[in-house]
Amino acid sequence: MKAVVIGASAGLGRALAGCLAEAGHEVMLVARDGRDLDPVARDLSIRFDARVQWLEADLAAPDVAELRTGVLERMGGLDALFMVAGLGDDADAGIMEDVALRRLIDVNLTGPASIINAFLPDLMRNGQSHLVGVGSVAAVRGRSRNMVYGSAKRGLEFYFEALRHRLDGGGCRVQFYRAGFMDTTMLGNERPGPLVVRPEAVARAMVARLGGPSGMAYLPRRWLLAALILRLLPWPLFRRMRR
Ligand SMILES: NC(=O)c1ccc[n+]([C@@H]2O[C@H](COP(=O)([O-])OP(=O)(O)OC[C@H]3O[C@@H](n4cnc5c(N)ncnc54)[C@H](OP(=O)(O)O)[C@@H]3O)[C@@H](O)[C@H]2O)c1
Repeated sequence: MKAVVIGASAGLGRALAGCLAEAGHEVMLVARDGRDLDPVARDLSIRFDARVQWLEADLAAPDVAELRTGVLERMGGLDALFMVAGLGDDADAGIMEDVALRRLIDVNLTGPASIINAFLPDLMRNGQSHLVGVGSVAAVRGRSRNMVYGSAKRGLEFYFEALRHRLDGGGCRVQFYRAGFMDTTMLGNERPGPLVVRPEAVARAMVARLGGPSGMAYLPRRWLLAALILRLLPWPLFRRMRR
């Protein structure tokens, strides 16, 4: 399989690229800076004797035509697109700088949608392809933290739901994951607790589920119950969950 991983320089995307390379797939790593991607590509190529390349793209303002051309020229096509990248902001808890607010929406929603839109013809023509997106449990219910991030992720989730509907029966599986807390730089200084998992575990689950049905799922799966409770919590209780 020829797989493109957007957000492959760190965290979950990097772990996913490792799982894919280990399973013998050809991988294109994508993030903003080749200086971060090159050592990852070299490491994976050597460790797993895999074909791993990289391309730069900034989700805040991606040149989608250039990215698509780069992927098609270097790989000769693609079978899977993994939209893993994401951005959080500690200031996202009320009033924030307009530039920062727009960046959160661009990186988490507008950029991903533009890139997916550019690759859709290729994924649809393929007949046996995969489109996989990563959202967040922050999108389960609007809270006073991660207000813009959660909104953008909810928007991305909606887009994936619509894509699933559009592509149903056409040979492109559309899978979306509401990810729980992972021990990555995005989590920042949060203390690792029982709810925090290694990104490698989530990456392995994503790869294992590639042959499964289209749709939305929680990773790790135990978040399903927590999300259900959060969703159904009556407002008088929910409103107290502020910090
Ligand atoms: N960590 C958590 O607790 C958690 C919880 C729920 C959901 N998630 C979601 O899980 C996914 C993976 O997150 P993570 O924890 O692995 O984050 P991470 O360690 O911070 O890695 C983020 C990745 O996204 C890329 N990225 C960020 N801004 C970008 C931009 N403007 N253009 C291109 N790439 C960009 C980064 O690449 P460069 O910065 O090198 O460009 C990096 O490869 C995200 O969608 C995140 O929202 C994470």
